[in-house]
Amino acid sequence: MVLVGLVVGAAVALVALLIPWLPTAASTEAGPIDQVYWFVTGICIFVFALVAAVSAYSVWKFRAAPDDHEDGKPIHGNTRLEIIWTLVPTILVTAISIYSGIALASVQEPSPDARTIKVTAQQFAWNFAYPNLSGRSTGDLVVQVDKPVVLEMTSKDVIHSFWVPQFRMKQDVVPGINTQVPFTPTKVGTFPVICTELCGLGHPTMRAEVRVLSAADYATWASQEKGGTATTGAGGGDAGKAAFEQFGCSSCHTLADAGSTAQVGPDLDKVLKGKDADFVRTSIVDPNKEIATGYQPGVMPQEFGDQVPEQQLDALVDYLVKATNG
Ligand code: CUA
Repeated sequence: MVLVGLVVGAAVALVALLIPWLPTAASTEAGPIDQVYWFVTGICIFVFALVAAVSAYSVWKFRAAPDDHEDGKPIHGNTRLEIIWTLVPTILVTAISIYSGIALASVQEPSPDARTIKVTAQQFAWNFAYPNLSGRSTGDLVVQVDKPVVLEMTSKDVIHSFWVPQFRMKQDVVPGINTQVPFTPTKVGTFPVICTELCGLGHPTMRAEVRVLSAADYATWASQEKGGTATTGAGGGDAGKAAFEQFGCSSCHTLADAGSTAQVGPDLDKVLKGKDADFVRTSIVDPNKEIATGYQPGVMPQEFGDQVPEQQLDALVDYLVKATNG
């Protein structure tokens, strides 16, 4: 019995330790959060193994013999046992609370030299604005490795939630209030930004990327952004395509030219074929005016007329007409 228990316990512990269950940890905050995770999981494994072993042993040891038709002995409680099974969980839960509280306090305090980035969420896209780069904004988050960042987040419509699994940090993005999430990326690379609050039809497509750049690459990128020649800059032939990404069109619509395959809204390659600039513009600023067959009114946000600056709207319309008729 003891031998079997030890063998099974060792096997389970090996599985728990050897398989990389969690995604790569790519921020300084990931350390304390993973420690809490394994602390709690370790306690759970131990308690489960203990309860399962005692239960299995009792079922085997105290089973009724085939010819035993007697009632069990009447038992009236066991004070010592009851104290133990109240005290032990109390200690464990208190320990978990204190440990989690310490870890939470350590990861929620933004570093004093953190760079602020303003995040705006809307159905179904992310926008990241950089006050240190004259407020330029991108559809993908760009940060510098080992440089602390604090995201100040708000939403234009419903509750969304910002999550990068590799950073371990997760924070709701709520209309009307500003929420914060600090982190310091520690690995150069590209990681997914995931909306993790059910926010409407396009929720599963509300993804972006966070690009963690080396100090040199970040400096190059920042100077390009400031100079206005970068990915989302105005002007140039790609401005319309960039706006298509930046304002989240690609989260909902298929458009071959932009490489997007989302199916929340109509396939633009089909519904815009043969349409002129006026139709495209109206469809963006007043989407309920004409609804494509098989789709519902009110799904596409109504505010693009206010949100998209005139110059970018022109570029977007121009781009869409060319991309679908061309
Ligand atoms: Cu935004 Cu789900």
